[in-house]
Amino acid sequence: MRALTVETGRPDSLAMTEVPDPVAGPGELLVEGLAVGVCATDREIIAAEYGEAPPGEHRLVIGHESLGRVVSAPDDSDFASGDHVVGVVRRPDPEPCGACARGLFDMCRNGRYTERGIKGVDGFASQRWTVPTEYAVKVPEGLGELAVLVEPASVLAKAWDQIDAVGNRSWFAPKTVLVTGAGPIGLLGALMGVQRGLEVHVLDQVTEGVKPQLVADLGAVYHHRGMSAVADHVEPDIVIEATGAPSVVGESMTITGPYGVVCVTGVSTPGSTMRVDMGAINREIVLDNDVVIGSVNANLDHYAVAARVLADADPDWVSRLISRRVPIDDYPEAFQERADDVKVVLTLQ
Ligand code: BGC
Repeated sequence: MRALTVETGRPDSLAMTEVPDPVAGPGELLVEGLAVGVCATDREIIAAEYGEAPPGEHRLVIGHESLGRVVSAPDDSDFASGDHVVGVVRRPDPEPCGACARGLFDMCRNGRYTERGIKGVDGFASQRWTVPTEYAVKVPEGLGELAVLVEPASVLAKAWDQIDAVGNRSWFAPKTVLVTGAGPIGLLGALMGVQRGLEVHVLDQVTEGVKPQLVADLGAVYHHRGMSAVADHVEPDIVIEATGAPSVVGESMTITGPYGVVCVTGVSTPGSTMRVDMGAINREIVLDNDVVIGSVNANLDHYAVAARVLADADPDWVSRLISRRVPIDDYPEAFQERADDVKVVLTLQ
């Protein structure tokens, strides 16, 4: 069968390769791959800035935002042929650490976790894949191809879960959230803010096109004049930082009101230095009881929440998050960034 692979550590080695058909072991589903979503992590892996092939291999099958249809399932499982499923990205470290031992592999403490399509295990950009039933999430068939957004949405479900956990250490009744970045992660975070009944603000740079419109159609407020202009209008209780841009990350730490929670989700590229008034930032965080939380990945509970969030949302709005569908034969196009792209999906059949 065909799979999209890279030689990890060698830039621009992305290729369609012929790999053996997978065989489902005991307790595993055999799945026909329907689609994978493309994200910045995939582009980093292709640029050889990130990613690790399985032990003993040179090439890694990429793709971690999956959607597939079950071909065969163990008789004693909750899955049946035809079910639509998404594969969980992360696997616990082999030791395992205390968090992984408790199913909290998204909170792995020793960094020896693996991630499908990213770190040490093949991903889902292939015509067939297998997955242990305990790492497969059944998604409502009504979602159709939109279920390919369950994985990125799970990352936001976790971020909100973290915000709740930290906020609830004392009295917490947030009213406003600022989301920085109107890409898929930012927009899914904004959707969850709206579903929670919050006043949602989104900051990005573009002045026209689909992103401002998607924000407006959510009933949220779109900003494009930078953080100080946002601060003229709102002192958010919560910030979800989804750009990873160092200057925006820095500014997001000072825009919150008292008891602010800033959740940073963007994986930035190291190496940019800037002058910051750390004393002022520290003073505000201390005097306001503010918290800055980093959040990555998601566990099984977050996938379940993500599927519900998407099922409860307006399907027309969610479908507009998918800007382009690229058939697997034209795969290079899926990885070329275009202005106004939100989520690009590679269709596998
Ligand atoms: C994925 C996460 C993963 C992270 C770090 C993100 O793109 O969505 O599941 O944990 O990259 O590898």
